[in-house]
Amino acid sequence: MSESLFMPEQASLQAVQLDALYYGLMGVTVFFSLLITVLLAVFAVRYRKGSTVNRTMTAKGFLALELTWTIIPLLIGIGLFGWGAKLYVDGRTPPDDAMDLYVVGLQWMWKIQHPQGKQENNELHVPVNRPVKLTMISQDVIHSFFIPAFRIKQDVLPGRYTTQWFEATKVGEYHLFCAEYCGTSHASMIGKVFVMEPAEYERWLSSSSTGGTMLSSGAQLFSRFACNTCHTEGPSQRGPSLAGLFGKPVTLQNGESVKADEEYLRESILYSNAKVVEGYQPIMPLFASQIAPDQLSQLIEYIKSLGSPDSLLRGETKP
Ligand code: CUA
Repeated sequence: MSESLFMPEQASLQAVQLDALYYGLMGVTVFFSLLITVLLAVFAVRYRKGSTVNRTMTAKGFLALELTWTIIPLLIGIGLFGWGAKLYVDGRTPPDDAMDLYVVGLQWMWKIQHPQGKQENNELHVPVNRPVKLTMISQDVIHSFFIPAFRIKQDVLPGRYTTQWFEATKVGEYHLFCAEYCGTSHASMIGKVFVMEPAEYERWLSSSSTGGTMLSSGAQLFSRFACNTCHTEGPSQRGPSLAGLFGKPVTLQNGESVKADEEYLRESILYSNAKVVEGYQPIMPLFASQIAPDQLSQLIEYIKSLGSPDSLLRGETKP
């Protein structure tokens, strides 16, 4: 246990990096606070009324000194900014090989869905030393997904996906909190994170396995909601092809270009008029009232897989 007096245990890559930044900021702050306070005290005593010291020196300016105390703090400030900005950008950029988990926050619990289909409530099981990307949405009010030991906290909003990633580095059990006041039982919207050895995680995944994987459930939904009728290449195709779409830029009717990420897919499924693709008509029905959040994430996982080498291996037909 590396639990310090000030911080929870460091159990993720991010925790080590962010703590270093935090201690760096603290160090600079403490150093300058002490420097100023000590000089203040020393001068107050030395030049107090009645002390016999030389008071004849007049302010003349001292260029070298002024440059020094301007340039050094400037460099320190720029350095801290660069350091913080780098960690922020890294924290917003999940690695490509990250495992995709979907989180739904609601009054007052967390629901989590694994790619293999397993769903869990108020618990999060993850393998150690593997980047994990969370795609999160709320079913009602604003919540905030907070794992202190990983130093990650991200608001979970109704009507929009937010994402967060982490890589756990220590096997163990950690707290999961909601960090946004979300109503009467906000305080009980807590859960547990279990970081496991990869083999143990696999065992956990396959234990009491429910239905199919997110992909297979997504594939079923894709035909249940008749997405395939319009999005399959052929004479009846009336919507854009979805193969290989994920992660690519899409040109819209209004000339704008957007990236086809999870949030774009979510919005386009629920509110198809919001961003109509160039060259197509806004004829797709709205699915906002028909698709539950966990189904939506299954559909999105399915669409993400379309056109990838994996989907060809699985022998799926091209949409
Ligand atoms: Cu959810 Cu507080």
